[in-house]
Amino acid sequence: MRAILYLTCSPKGQFAFSRLMADELLARLIESNRNAQVVHRDLATDPPPVPDAAFSAAVLSAAPADDPAFATSEILIGELERCDALVIATPMHNYGVPAVLKAWIDQVVRIRRSFQSTPAGKVGVLRDRPVFVVVASGGWFTGPSPSGSPAQPDFLTPYLSAALGTIGLNDLAFITLEGLTRGADGAERALASARTRLAHLVPLSPMSETRPSAPIPSR
Ligand SMILES: Cc1cc2nc3c(=O)[nH]c(=O)nc-3n(C[C@H](O)[C@H](O)[C@H](O)COP(=O)(O)O)c2cc1C
Repeated sequence: MRAILYLTCSPKGQFAFSRLMADELLARLIESNRNAQVVHRDLATDPPPVPDAAFSAAVLSAAPADDPAFATSEILIGELERCDALVIATPMHNYGVPAVLKAWIDQVVRIRRSFQSTPAGKVGVLRDRPVFVVVASGGWFTGPSPSGSPAQPDFLTPYLSAALGTIGLNDLAFITLEGLTRGADGAERALASARTRLAHLVPLSPMSETRPSAPIPSR
């Protein structure tokens, strides 16, 4: 694994829980792939444009890839094509992906470029590669809360799986941080559980595992 594309999506920047955990994941990936280079794209501070009239017309008229309306799309797809692994750090916003991540998806999931439409359905043209998605949410969506409140709807994980699957990325691993707005104890439990999952997903040598992790800043 030589190149890692790192997308961050939270308006909270460096204080985001999703970012905290994804930074730990990146540290593991870098430790286990010594020469890995990270390209960081912060979608929250530099959001991709939402599809406008020119983009829509270019898609629908099968304009060539060098059409000016595809300029951002070409840059973002190029970043994706060059990476060996993709890490996405995202909050859940209203049961789904935040608007900036949806805007990125609308730029990279492009007919005749990153997928083809065939009689058998949409076929992705990108090489498959590992995708790690850290999802932070205030409540619980993978199951009921510890106090028994029902799980929230989850349109984020199935949507992201379908959207990235469309372009050929099917090797997704989700790391969830749930119950983050329910007090410091809940956040600590969520972080501890996510760290266990990280250790399973990206194991390190026993020496590295015993190294203390960085202190958690207040968020
Ligand atoms: C606009 C908005 C919508 C949100 N929608 C949800 C939601 O649907 N479900 C949920 O559990 N938490 C929701 N939250 C809470 C965030 O998911 C939670 O604060 C999480 O920690 C954000 O992740 P971050 O720290 O990485 O930014 C929402 C927060 C905002 C600002």
